[in-house]
Amino acid sequence: MSNEIMTELQKSIADFKKAKKVTTHTLQEMKQAGVKISMLTAYDFSMAKIVDDGGIDVILVGDSASNVMAGHETTLPITLDQMIYHASSVVRGINRALVVVDLPFGSYQGNSKEALNSAIKIMKESGAHAVKLEGGREVKDSIERIVSAGVPVMGHLGLTPQSIYKFGTYAVRATDNEEAQRLREDALFVQDSGCFSIVLEKIPAHLSAEVTASLKIPTIGIGAGADVDGQVLVIHDMLGINKEFKPRFLRRYLNLYDQIKIAVEKYSDDVKGMDFPNENEQY
Ligand code: KIV
Repeated sequence: MSNEIMTELQKSIADFKKAKKVTTHTLQEMKQAGVKISMLTAYDFSMAKIVDDGGIDVILVGDSASNVMAGHETTLPITLDQMIYHASSVVRGINRALVVVDLPFGSYQGNSKEALNSAIKIMKESGAHAVKLEGGREVKDSIERIVSAGVPVMGHLGLTPQSIYKFGTYAVRATDNEEAQRLREDALFVQDSGCFSIVLEKIPAHLSAEVTASLKIPTIGIGAGADVDGQVLVIHDMLGINKEFKPRFLRRYLNLYDQIKIAVEKYSDDVKGMDFPNENEQY
């Protein structure tokens, strides 16, 4: 990249950082300007406040809450009301970020009317700005119906964790020609149905680069390489709150599990050793 282009890009990044509120329109403009979109999950008020203050563009209230908040093995058990509880807590913590909420398993697969009702319930009761759902051509009618009611929808292709029992594994998807071709077509279905963006999860980098170049709407990758329009990670993973989950795509920015554990041990020792509270810590 030439110095001139680099300076222009830095200027655009600074301009987008100044945006008072990130909207679906802002994300579209970011794709056009070549400015990458940052997205992280959050599930509660305090974390959402920090993430928003850190300048993240999109906060995803992911159904990964089922794993990292509730301790379930899969994302399947979380309910619509539980997602609304998490989403409304997040919304109370933010000023700038766009808040997208996952439609949980079982709340939209039945038919498009059910999907619309679930999306409306999330928007009314949480105050979030958009919903996300998994799937391609099979959810086309649902996307169209939700979008026509005025609710922005984000798609999700590749590894779709709500279908884990169909796949049988969390391995990389679309590595063979047939599945890759289906994904290319599904990405167009999802765009044509009215989605404002698509998450591409755990697919080969060359495929996500190709899909990203073929779409007008921004793609957000997780384990999908660098040539996408933005990146998303689960906050517990990038902060190192989970020790066991170590996929190749994950970059850990902190080792909070150990840091919190050390603080807890120190506090416990201080209480038992009658060091806490001291004279300055009482009335
Ligand atoms: O639920 C979630 O956290 C997600 C991301 C992994 C994209 O869907």
